[in-house]
Amino acid sequence: FLPQVMAGKKVVITAGPTQEAIDPVRYISNHSSGKMGYALAHAAQLLGAQVVLISGPCALKTPLGITKIAVKSAQQMLQAAERYSPNCDVFIACAAVADYKVSQVADQKIKKHQHQVSLQLERNPDVLATIAQQIEKPFCVGFAAETQDVAHYAKDKMQRKNLDMIVANDVSQQNIGFNSEENAVTVFWHNGEQNFPTMHKLQLAIQLIQLVAKHYEYKKSQ
Ligand code: C5P
Repeated sequence: FLPQVMAGKKVVITAGPTQEAIDPVRYISNHSSGKMGYALAHAAQLLGAQVVLISGPCALKTPLGITKIAVKSAQQMLQAAERYSPNCDVFIACAAVADYKVSQVADQKIKKHQHQVSLQLERNPDVLATIAQQIEKPFCVGFAAETQDVAHYAKDKMQRKNLDMIVANDVSQQNIGFNSEENAVTVFWHNGEQNFPTMHKLQLAIQLIQLVAKHYEYKKSQ
């Protein structure tokens, strides 16, 4: 039994990688497994929230009782986020959104005639920063995967993207983070931080959602 600290709250979570099409059969993507985002969705649901999980392509099962919106590209993820975030209480961006998309997606499969080809890429929209810019923005939580100066870069990202909280993991450490069953993170907010040692992603997700619930309530009471 878990205290229902998120009862009556609407939570939108992004998870997984995005896929950016090159042509009808090829794409650019990354190795995100989606495990942390799905664990957060599961945890929020277990703690009583109504959860919408906006997920890029990944092989994970959707936890029972969660509404999953399947997307491929960053642009589609943004559209889904803009559609589901109004009236939500908490927005958690856990997706590994591709930084760039292909400027001109080919209509037909690109043939291998040429010895060299170039792809022109352009920046994708920032899903989280877009949602965090809304006037009546939800409580916004971001993730930061860093390999050095974790605290410095994470706090900078929190400020730049107008977030309430950021979850930082040191991806230079092996056995945790990407594609692993476990993770260890440090969470930062405006005037505090908390360390979470290595543990199973669902266990960590429950503790993270409990922390979010506490800060959400505090912010609302201000
Ligand atoms: O800037 P960076 O990609 O390191 O920021 C990571 C955070 O921003 C994560 O919470 C990620 O889900 C979110 N993000 C996003 N859209 C992007 C890039 C990152 O929502 N295009």
